[in-house]
Formats: sequence, C-alpha cells, structure tokens
Amino acid sequence: MTAPRAQRCAVWFGRPSAREEAVFAASGWHLRVARPEACVQVGMRGGDLVIAVVDLRGADAAQLAALEDVLAEHADLPSLALTDDTTDLVDPACQRVLARCGGRLPQPLEPGALDAALATLLASPRRDIASVGGESAVMLGVRALLHRYADVELPVLITGESGTGKELAAHALHDLSGRRARPFVAMNCGAISPTLVQSELFGHERGAFTGAATRRMGLFESADGGTVFLDEIGDLPLDAQTNLLRVLQEGTIERVGSNHAIRVDVRVLAATHVDLEAAIAAGRFRQDLYYRLDVLRLQLPPLRARGADVELLARQFLDEFRAGHSVQARGFSAAARQCLRQHAWPGNVRELLNRVRRAAVVAEHALIEPADLELGASNAKVVALDHRRDRTERDALLDALRATGCNVSASARRLSVSRVTIYRLCRKHGVSLEAFR
Ligand SMILES: Nc1ncnc2c1ncn2[C@@H]1O[C@H](COP(=O)(O)OP(=O)(O)OP(=O)(O)O)[C@@H](O)[C@H]1O
Ligand SMILES: [Mg+2]
Repeated sequence: MTAPRAQRCAVWFGRPSAREEAVFAASGWHLRVARPEACVQVGMRGGDLVIAVVDLRGADAAQLAALEDVLAEHADLPSLALTDDTTDLVDPACQRVLARCGGRLPQPLEPGALDAALATLLASPRRDIASVGGESAVMLGVRALLHRYADVELPVLITGESGTGKELAAHALHDLSGRRARPFVAMNCGAISPTLVQSELFGHERGAFTGAATRRMGLFESADGGTVFLDEIGDLPLDAQTNLLRVLQEGTIERVGSNHAIRVDVRVLAATHVDLEAAIAAGRFRQDLYYRLDVLRLQLPPLRARGADVELLARQFLDEFRAGHSVQARGFSAAARQCLRQHAWPGNVRELLNRVRRAAVVAEHALIEPADLELGASNAKVVALDHRRDRTERDALLDALRATGCNVSASARRLSVSRVTIYRLCRKHGVSLEAFR
C-alpha cells in the first residue's frame, strides 16, 4: 500500500518569525514566504493542499491592496489572517481582507493551537454530488451521468470552458466511486515543466537524470487503488502521452531510468478546455490516446446555458459566504438579478462565485446591487453584442452546411476556415452533423 504524495503547503504573505516557521514545519507544512505585491503564483501542484497565511502585522495600504487582489484571484484558497497591535483594524481595506479569510491564526503560535485552527479551516463540506449544484435540465443530466459513470472502471474525459466545474466533477466521480477511500491525485499537465512531467507521473530511479538523487515514486504509484485526475490533458508532452497510453492499455508504468514494469491500479480522469481534435489535427495530441481517454465523455455546459441556475447558484454562494462571515448583504435586488441573468459569464461558475463573494463584502445594504457585482448597463450591451455575434456565426455555419449538402470540406472552403473549425463550430452551436444530414 502506498501513501499519497500530496504535500501540505502554506503560502505566508508577509514575514513569519523563526518560531512561526518552526511550528508550521513541525505540523508537516511546507512554508513558502511571499510578498503580496510581488504577484506570486500560488501554484497548486497535483493534489497538494495549499492554504494562505495573510500576515497583517504592519501591513501598509499598498500591501493591503495587493492582498485583496491575491485573495480575489484565489477565491478558493483557505486562508488564515494574522493580526497584532500594529494592524489598523478600522481601515476598510483591512476589514475587507479579514472578511475574506476563513479564520485567524492563533497568537502566540503553538503547534496544538495551529492544528486546531487548521482543522476548523479545512473542515469544508465534502465535495460530493451535492456540491455540483444546479436544477436546469442540462445540470440534472450532468448529475445523472456522474452517477452512471462513477463505478465504471473506464476513463472519463471531462470537457467544458474554463470555470465550468471540471475539477469539481472529477472529485464527485471519485467520491461517488468505490475508490473513495483511496487517494485522489490531481496534476495540471500544463503547470509543470515538460522535462519533469515523466518523472512526476511515473517516478524515477536514483541517478536517472541529473538531480535525481533519490528514487521517487510518481503520481500513478501514489494513487494506487484510487483515481488520477489529469487536468489540461491537452498540454501533456508527446513522450508522456506515449507512456500514458501504456498505463491505459496495460495497467503498468515504468519509472524513469528503469525498464521494470510496475502494475498500478488507478482510474484515469482527464479534463481539457481545449479542443483535443484540433490538437490531434495539429500533431500535438496522439489520436490513439484520445480514443482511449474519450470512452466516457462528460461535457459541462457553460453557465450561460444553464438558465435559472445562475440565480440559484448566486443565492447558494451568498448563503455559504454569509455562514462564515458577518456581512450586510442578505439577497439580490431585482436589478442585480436581472444583471445576473443577462451577463454572459465568460469565466463561468468561478466568475459567479468570485463576483458574489466580492459583492457580499462590498455591499453596504441588505440587497446586493449591480454595482456591487460590477455588472451594469455597459455590460448588458457587451452581452447583447456577443449574442448577436454568436447568432451571426451560427447562421453562417448553417447556411454553408445547407448550401453544400452538409459537406464539411466544402463548407470549410466556403467560409474560409479549416475543417477542424467547422467541427468546433458545430459543437459550439449544438449542430449535429448526423441530424443535419
Ligand atoms: N455546479 C456547481 N455548483 C457549485 N459550485 C460549482 C459548480 N461548478 C463549479 N463550481 C465552483 O466553481 C469553481 C470552479 O470550478 P472548477 O475549478 O471545478 O472549474 P474548472 O472547469 O476545473 O475550471 P478551469 O478550466 O479554470 O480549471 C470552484 O470553486 C467550484 O467549486
Ligand atoms: Mg480546473
């Protein structure tokens, strides 16, 4: 039996004392010290657990502004605030930062107190099927598929625009499956250097390459018995694609620097927001791997296609936020609800979540207004324009298909685009070539 390799990492925005560093290390946390204004990348590698410590001791206006930005960008990051008597608690910016944090770091910091604070912070609800919210017909369909796919030992390819809930769906599949008690290990294939991908996935032997001082277990071995979630699979380098194909075909891996096959029992889930068929056409993705991964397909619809779910989720996100923070906002004004309905949500559910949380913090009255959501009249115009553009695109596509008797190559020539684009447009606009023929 193997242990998950996921790390516990705390990003400390500010200056920890030597004692504070030692207490975190003793509780098993890797500490990274970051300056908020230095625009740090809070990298979440694989299934790592990452938290933030927001150090408000002596923070000046520029640092507070930078911290607000960091917290807004990483709305999902569990964070603990740290204050002392140099903190300007009546400063509105400071209050906003405090409202975004899930708790306070105990002072003075002792191991037992740290463990208790972290346990409370991380006792977030289990990410199961109930967390994939929405009552629209498309989302009922998604939840039905999650149930149906959960216990089938086949890969699932999860597709959808950015922020539609692909990672959430992967967690739900794992939590619903018989593998739920075993590790769920995730890796973002695009976030890791191509030279290290092989070793991350499959491990390496000591001396396999410069810098490989010890033998190391890869993601697949550490997930044994559980689930491997390969996010942004379209970014996986070609040589790693070949090895992944072997895992899927034979259920074995080889560590880098070894030719000994090791049997692993993992289920592979993969997600992409890019069009893999286009990547295949461009020679960047192996077609045989695509067929292996694309056995069960879970397509997450964009938020703008989920009708009344936008309001439902907004309400849910506000209620969840209110449960942990004391804020004025209790609901949404009629104008705000209209803006929620009209906005095009290019960032999908993540954008909605971030806008609602920000609005909850900044709203000064019981009802959130469009301005609190940073949605307004000018925005409605952009949405109207986008709709019109989409309609024109769809009309041109349908005209071309009709005029050419649904011949993809001829339609592509007619519109001066590639065949791949025709397929992409068909998917985007929900046009089924079979049905059309
Ligand atoms: N149906 C949903 N109900 C409730 N929350 C959701 C839903 N879908 C997504 N979320 C929340 O929205 C945020 C974004 O979801 P997630 O990270 O799974 O999206 P993603 O598709 O993986 O995004 P990306 O392509 O940018 O990686 C998360 O906080 C997630 O919990
Ligand atoms: Mg994701």
